[in-house]
This record gives sequence, structure tokens and C-alpha cells, in this order.
Amino acid sequence: MSPSSITRGLKTGFIGRKVVYNPTLASTMDTARQAARQGVEDGTVIIAGEQTAGRGRLKRTWLSPPGNIALSIILYTDIASLPYLVMIAALAVAHSIEGATGVKTQIKWPNDILIDGKKAGGILIENEVKKNKVAYSVVGIGINVGLKVADYPEISATSISLKSEPVPDLRIKIIQSLLNEFERLYLKLPHGEAIYEEWRSRLVTLGKKVRATSGKKIIEGTAESVNESGALIIRQANGRLVRVVAGDVTLSEK
Ligand code: BTN
Repeated sequence: MSPSSITRGLKTGFIGRKVVYNPTLASTMDTARQAARQGVEDGTVIIAGEQTAGRGRLKRTWLSPPGNIALSIILYTDIASLPYLVMIAALAVAHSIEGATGVKTQIKWPNDILIDGKKAGGILIENEVKKNKVAYSVVGIGINVGLKVADYPEISATSISLKSEPVPDLRIKIIQSLLNEFERLYLKLPHGEAIYEEWRSRLVTLGKKVRATSGKKIIEGTAESVNESGALIIRQANGRLVRVVAGDVTLSEK
């Protein structure tokens, strides 16, 4: 994959105008952070053919062999936009997969992209905030495009891939549409209502019995709603509402 194979299909004004492609990286998050500290242009995208130390949320490992999508978008944004980045990224992934393959996707709070209840993609956002100002934000996106999940017993029961072997054209098509969609949604800010509404409407989590872990706390109850900051509101058996800002949920009922 060459940067121009991506950039020539873009309709964007700034996202992906600069693409840096490396066949192998430890993690696009680290390369993006270094680039952001050096002041690369807004919307620069770092793409890896494969990652040797890909990471997920909550310090998990993210498998990132060749054939998958692993990229990070660098943004110089404002603090009010931060809660929307995860919604924008999740919707851009969902739209790009659906547009390229016709396969229906769902979102599991806060940012897992599911197909048939299994994880097809994830989002990791790392921000550098100083004195209430965002120095930079790195939006990391991983999508299982050409992963033979059966070869990875640690994820085979819970993950899914669009194809079971690398399909370079599909990978390029999804990246282009992902970046186009990301910018289209991002440019709606500061008016994030429609983004929030669509993200909320696609969440499989709402109405389900959930078990949420947030730090050391475990909260069980029914996922009642999400607020516009992206927090999940859980109603516990005793009727109390608990707000979970960051964490992980297990759906205990289909
Ligand atoms: C998650 O579901 O926990 C988030 C997964 C995020 C994976 C992507 S792949 C590109 C970027 N680089 C990384 O090391 N992680 C993110």
C-alpha cells in the first residue's frame, strides 16, 4: 500500500491529506504521538501494514497482523469536541464497513464495532490535555478485514473478520471511506446532536442487562441510556442510577 493509493480516492479537505504508511510499526498510536509532538499537520494519518505491539483499551493487546486495518488520525481539536471523537470514529467505521461490504454493523458501548454480535473493530483515543487545552488527540482505529480468526484461539470466540485472508483492494476502499466519513462527521462539530443521536441509536447495549467494570468497580444493572458526553447510565436493581464514564461492559442478555 502506498500513501497515494489512499489519498487519490479521498474527498477530504484535511483528514488524510498527509498519509504516512509503514509496513511494520510497534503501534500507530506511538508513531502518531511522536508525529503530533513534532507538529505534523492536522488530520495526518499513520497507517501500519502490521503492528507488533498493537494495543486496545484497558491495556489490552490488539492483534494486528498484515491484512487488517490499523491506523491513527492526529487531530488538534478543542476540549468540547473530545467526547464526540469516539462517536464519530465508531460511526465512520460502521458506515465504511456497511458501504464497502453491505454487511450490517452495530456498536457496543463505548466503541466496539460488532458484526453478528462479534467484534470486528475497535477504537482507542489518546489525548494530551494541558491546562484544559488539547495539545493533540490521536484516534486509533483497528478493523479486522483480512484476519483468519480461527488461527487466534484467544479471540476466535468473540471476534470476526470481514474476510479470512488479506484483500488489499477492500482494505484501501474501507480506509478511504472511513477517512471521508470521519471528516464529514467531524465537520458537523460543534453541533454534535445528530452524531450523538445516531451513535445512540446504533448501540446494542441499551436496554440490556449489563455488567460494567470501571476501574476496580463493578456495576450491574440495566443499561438505560447514554448521555451526550458518551457516559453510560445504568439502573441498578435497587433503582439507583449510576453513570459509567469509561470502562467496559459485558452484555448478560442477548
Ligand atoms: C479496543 O477495542 O480496545 C481498541 C482497539 C484499537 C486498535 C487500534 S489499531 C490502530 C491503533 N494502534 C494501536 O495500537 N491501537 C489502535
